[in-house]
Amino acid sequence: MSADLAKLNAARAALDFIKDGMVVGLGTGSTSAHFVRLLGERVREGLRVKGVPTSEATKQLAEQVGVPLLEISQVTSIDVDVDGADEIDPAFRLVKGGGGALLREKIVAAASKEMVTIADETKWVDTLGAFPLPVEVTRFGFNLTLERVHQVMRDTGCAGDKVVLRVAGKSNEPVITDGGNYVLDAHAERLCDPEAIAFALSQIPGVVEHGLFIGLSRTVILGKAKGAEVKRL
Ligand code: A5P
Repeated sequence: MSADLAKLNAARAALDFIKDGMVVGLGTGSTSAHFVRLLGERVREGLRVKGVPTSEATKQLAEQVGVPLLEISQVTSIDVDVDGADEIDPAFRLVKGGGGALLREKIVAAASKEMVTIADETKWVDTLGAFPLPVEVTRFGFNLTLERVHQVMRDTGCAGDKVVLRVAGKSNEPVITDGGNYVLDAHAERLCDPEAIAFALSQIPGVVEHGLFIGLSRTVILGKAKGAEVKRL
């Protein structure tokens, strides 16, 4: 099965949640990009919506495909946020941030009346953690913050405790987020207690945000080779 086709099918099914006049959070990543392009088609057909992008990349794409945008400073409430995920468990806890947009994604999700998570069905897992948990940190003192994230992994009984600074490019330069921060990837392998880890990470000075989205999404759309399955919590 083509993962991209499944992502497209999930994105298409999310259009059912969009009504005329809505303010819509626009997620980041390849699945969200499908949704933004499809939304652009609907706008060209006459749908009136305003988008709130969760990254500079999504902002550029939305502009290209003609989705009218609002600045985050103009927004008091968002009707529905449509965003992807790296992992989803049966309690609808998400790991996000594989694309490094977790901070803006979480601000927009938390400001939304509803978060609709769209993903290909391979993202559905029994236990979170095989995908490394992204943690956005300040550049200042990142090596000290990394040690404390490492300690949290150990203290909360994760199967793995390797934590690495995310780098990219030929010269392995640190990835810098839209907010000007670094990203650590915590290779927990298995997150036994996601709530405890989320709490402990949020207590570390230097952690700007972590990629555990808990209690934010009650609707998950899993794209398949043919169609999509809508799950509700
Ligand atoms: C971006 O930072 C992420 O949270 C993405 O939403 C997540 O990585 C899913 O990406 P894909 O849709 O590309 O799989």
